[in-house]
Amino acid sequence: MKRIVPALVRGGADAIKVSSTYPSAPSYNGTPTMTARPPAAPASKTVYIETVGCQMNVLDSELVVGALKRVGYALTHDPSTADLMLFNTCSVREHAEDKTFSALGRVAPFKLANPAKVIGVIGCMAQKDGDAIRARAPYVDLVVGTGQLAKIPELVAIIQETRDPQLAVSLGRREAGKREVEMSFESFDPTRDPEMRLTPFQAYVRIQIGCDKFCTYCVVPSTRGPEQSRHPDSILNEVRILVDQGCKEVTLIGQTVNSYIYDHGDGRRTRFSDLILRIHDVAGLRRIKFVTNFPKDMTDDLLDAVRDLPKMVKYLHVPLQSGCDDVLGRMKRLYTVGEYWEMLHRSRERIPGVAVSSDFIVGFCGETDASFQKSLDVVDRAKFKNSFIFKYSERPGTKAMERYPDDVPDAVKKQRNHDLLMLQNERSLEDSRAMIGQAVEVLVEGPSRQGAKSAPGGIRQLIGRTMTDHIAVFDGPDRLVGEILTVDIAEASGFTLYGAARTGEAIGGEGVLPVARLPRRMGLGLV
Ligand code: 5AD
Ligand code: SF4
Repeated sequence: MKRIVPALVRGGADAIKVSSTYPSAPSYNGTPTMTARPPAAPASKTVYIETVGCQMNVLDSELVVGALKRVGYALTHDPSTADLMLFNTCSVREHAEDKTFSALGRVAPFKLANPAKVIGVIGCMAQKDGDAIRARAPYVDLVVGTGQLAKIPELVAIIQETRDPQLAVSLGRREAGKREVEMSFESFDPTRDPEMRLTPFQAYVRIQIGCDKFCTYCVVPSTRGPEQSRHPDSILNEVRILVDQGCKEVTLIGQTVNSYIYDHGDGRRTRFSDLILRIHDVAGLRRIKFVTNFPKDMTDDLLDAVRDLPKMVKYLHVPLQSGCDDVLGRMKRLYTVGEYWEMLHRSRERIPGVAVSSDFIVGFCGETDASFQKSLDVVDRAKFKNSFIFKYSERPGTKAMERYPDDVPDAVKKQRNHDLLMLQNERSLEDSRAMIGQAVEVLVEGPSRQGAKSAPGGIRQLIGRTMTDHIAVFDGPDRLVGEILTVDIAEASGFTLYGAARTGEAIGGEGVLPVARLPRRMGLGLV
């Protein structure tokens, strides 16, 4: 096996050991690692895990728990009794880091009561400020960055044996040459364990790690390392295994997923649209989604693939971040508002009916009332399905922090966040209302929050997503969960469509599902 080892694994107070003997996974661009799932060891210990952040983190937690199960851990939801407690962390905004430190504060008494308990901080915060975490929470035994997660089972075993704290992080972007840094962010896409997934029929599949865009406000290029696309065969292999396990929908994830390109090294290149085409061929798979997109990389071949392939969800999440060119320039987003509009029009022309959503940062350095007004203007006219809106949070180590003062007062950021959200909510309501009267195809995910209050077995409120990623609720029996059905939309609130599931129908299923005639009842209350 090719060995790449620039990561540091430190044991004890200051022992520094280059992990050259550690049996790690092959490099990200290496041969596919997926195999049939080996049997889990009989559970003798328990792991509790808390996850904050993006889909990448949700997937990482799933994979870490899967790896721990294979060495004898069972998942528990009770932090007080767990042998191992893991916090999978996010550094994108300061608020996310604060949440982790307060969670660590809450669990300190458990460690005091039982010093054998192992507490680990993993993911982005671990990669970004490994040592600082132990300075603030000295009872943390384990610190593991995003590119070293495969090592967790082994490091936990070392801690249990020696009581020495362990730290494993990848190289910083300026600590070595590009290839070396790339290699230090190791692949961690081992065999999958369905238990951690939100539903057994939906899964995230990582097709790319890292980011090379270097937006000035963003820590991701540091916490997740250089952009690396995964070998298409490895991705295909994983999708096939997931489908064999009953998965019907995959969401392909990457920080800028539409920048995916795999260079085979022999003149052949696999573009994202080529990859999608191959995944689309997997028999039994019913739906394919992907997040998150970079506006400049939205190529026509990709848009045409989304339009032409029936399993592709007609939804694009394409963050604009600001409606003002000056702000975009300081953010180093590499496009102008005009170019974003061009991309938006082209997407809607090529994929009729496509839903588009965006992200915005308000109160970025130097954002004046006039520049914020430009973000309002875009949201007013762009017909986004929804937007995620964030107050700018200054992040140590970013170019924005180095170059520009964080000069918008917090009260102004809050007000702008509120104003942009209110406007987007109005537009989202219009977008939802436009769907009243339509018959939409829904993948049923489970009981809604309201439905979960009723006992299983009877008719209760179920929730699912449409082919344009809209949330739909309707009443039905639990056996519809995991099925794809037609729902007639009769009502709409800001972000939810309310409807009735059609009788006797499961779209494209192997045979027709015996669905009882459902009363046309409206779901009410909180979803
Ligand atoms: N402050 C606020 N929001 C941020 N995002 C990324 N970095 C920051 C930051 N420093 C937002 C962007 C991105 C989303 C995932 O998080 O809008 O698209
Ligand atoms: Fe961060 Fe920009 Fe990369 Fe997105 S594209 S992860 S905002 S650096």
